Amino acid sequence: MRQPVLLLAMQAAWSCLCRATQHYPAAWGHYDVCKSQVYTDEGLTWDYMACQPEAGDMTKYLRVTLDPPNITCGDPPETYCALENPYMCNNECDANTVELAHPPELMFDFEGRNPTTFWQSTSWRKYPKPLLVNITMSWNKTIELTDDIVITFESGRPEQMVLEKSLDYGRTWQPYQFYATDCLDAFTMDPKTVQDLTQHTLLDIICTEDYSRGYVWKYDKTVRFEIKDRFALFAGPQLHNMASLYGQLDTTKNLRDFFTITDLRIRLLRPATGATMVDENNLSRYFYAISDIKVQGRMHTQLSLTCDGRPWTRASLLLCKDCECFGHSNRCSYIELLNTVICVSCKHNTRGQHCQLCKLGYYRNATAELDDKNVCLECKCDPFGSESDRCNGTGFCKCKEGATGPKCTECQPGYLWNNGCKSRVCDELLRCQNGGVCHNNLRCQCPAAFTGLLCEKPRCEGEAAGCGDPDSGQAALRLPPTPLLLLPLLLAPAWAAPL
Ligand SMILES: *[C@@H]1O[C@H](CO)[C@@H](O)[C@H](O)[C@H]1NC(C)=O
Ligand SMILES: *[C@@H]1O[C@H](CO)[C@@H](O)[C@H](O)[C@H]1NC(C)=O
Ligand SMILES: *[C@@H]1O[C@H](CO)[C@@H](O)[C@H](O)[C@H]1NC(C)=O
Ligand SMILES: *[C@@H]1O[C@H](CO)[C@@H](O)[C@H](O)[C@H]1NC(C)=O
Ligand SMILES: *[C@@H]1O[C@H](CO)[C@@H](O)[C@H](O)[C@H]1NC(C)=O
Ligand SMILES: *[C@@H]1O[C@H](CO)[C@@H](O)[C@H](O)[C@H]1NC(C)=O
Repeated sequence: MRQPVLLLAMQAAWSCLCRATQHYPAAWGHYDVCKSQVYTDEGLTWDYMACQPEAGDMTKYLRVTLDPPNITCGDPPETYCALENPYMCNNECDANTVELAHPPELMFDFEGRNPTTFWQSTSWRKYPKPLLVNITMSWNKTIELTDDIVITFESGRPEQMVLEKSLDYGRTWQPYQFYATDCLDAFTMDPKTVQDLTQHTLLDIICTEDYSRGYVWKYDKTVRFEIKDRFALFAGPQLHNMASLYGQLDTTKNLRDFFTITDLRIRLLRPATGATMVDENNLSRYFYAISDIKVQGRMHTQLSLTCDGRPWTRASLLLCKDCECFGHSNRCSYIELLNTVICVSCKHNTRGQHCQLCKLGYYRNATAELDDKNVCLECKCDPFGSESDRCNGTGFCKCKEGATGPKCTECQPGYLWNNGCKSRVCDELLRCQNGGVCHNNLRCQCPAAFTGLLCEKPRCEGEAAGCGDPDSGQAALRLPPTPLLLLPLLLAPAWAAPL
């Protein structure tokens, strides 16, 4: 009985906000709510449901802060030397000259131009005091990562760094990954790679030496946090089973939280030196420079509010005036994407943005107000007599052939109830022939020798020996040549008859 409803739902015309859900319907669950058009008995309406916004470049929406704040090069102007060649000193940084300045924004601008634009730190002038920089990226929103975080260094890649994340807008921080030329020495951790992880250790925080060893800085400039390799542990190497991954993300809070952030922090702890010894006579060789940071994900723009009782916050006061649910819910979500407040968890069999509609399978009680608990009445469509469990606005169900009545519990003339309405076959006027017995007016129970709707046809019309002999049916029963084939005919002669 649910089948037709499901089909109707699948025919829904998804709005552009929901494109991703078309591909991964299994992902519905905790994700954002968005609207889609659905066909209901009232016609085409908007429905609000769980869906996923599209993944995209999240660096467009972040705010970046550096600690210490004056760590960017150029104030005062400085000249830098190349790490691999201390006599090659043609990298000038001057904060007051646009062409020579390297402000933090250049980590997030469009790459692909030549020469590359990049942020650059001051050099390691205070060696041996460590050159420490925190680059904090804040979204003030919950982001679900969908691809690797990739940091491209224009300097050599740091010898020590930590990628950290926050899920509570920067109040608390957890490490995501440690990076070092020597993990044991730097962080007293055994070096690992993401390939060492299994489904059971997927959420382990590792220290990797993959992105720090050597200073082949002309060739390999990137440091990664490998999201996709971790996804692959659930979705398969080609990520073709995303449904399995999303299923896991939906049901496993730890897993979901792991890939969710509000802030990221890159803690640069030691610049590339390219050697075991630091050249103290030319510290202009040592600095950090980053040309690009890639963070791909989708934004969770849902803000859930409970709109009765206290304490009231400014935000809830502002939004709760739009949380009108006719008493069927006291919870609303603010959907930033739509700039709309919608009711969530509508009770009393209601649904819709304001719980103003009846759930499918229910219809509006005409005598009840919208805020009445009895506003939606169950359709109660007969499961055998009806096409679906849904009814129209006055409670009428759509009946199958032969059935009638508001709930399709009755039969039209010429039909008889037998798990739905079946057409009448025999009665006092239209009798079963050849000694057949009319059974519930729906079929003739024929003697073994006859078949047909009204037992009007002799069985085995003259082809085999014994046909026409009134005892042939009995003989066949006693000595069946192909008993398995005959059995259904003997048990249900009327059904076997051609109609
Ligand atoms: C940054 O400012 C602090 C004081 O606010 C100062 O001690 C430090 O030397 C400055 N660093 C640089 C690299 O200018
Ligand atoms: C960077 O962040 C860490 C904690 O995440 C903090 O201990 C440190 O003081 C911050 N600043 C610098 C310059 O490292
Ligand atoms: C963060 O978002 C909240 C709610 O949207 C807003 O009130 C607040 O001003 C934002 N904070 C920052 C620092 O942007
Ligand atoms: C060291 O740096 C200065 C500029 O700060 C440069 O003139 C010099 O050639 C560099 N190399 C050596 C080996 O001193
Ligand atoms: C319709 O609502 C009215 C008002 O609440 C209620 O008295 C009546 O019982 C409801 N009808 C049904 C069939 O429940
Ligand atoms: C529901 O169907 C019945 C029977 O077809 C009809 O009489 C009634 O007007 C319909 N109600 C609505 C609201 O369409």
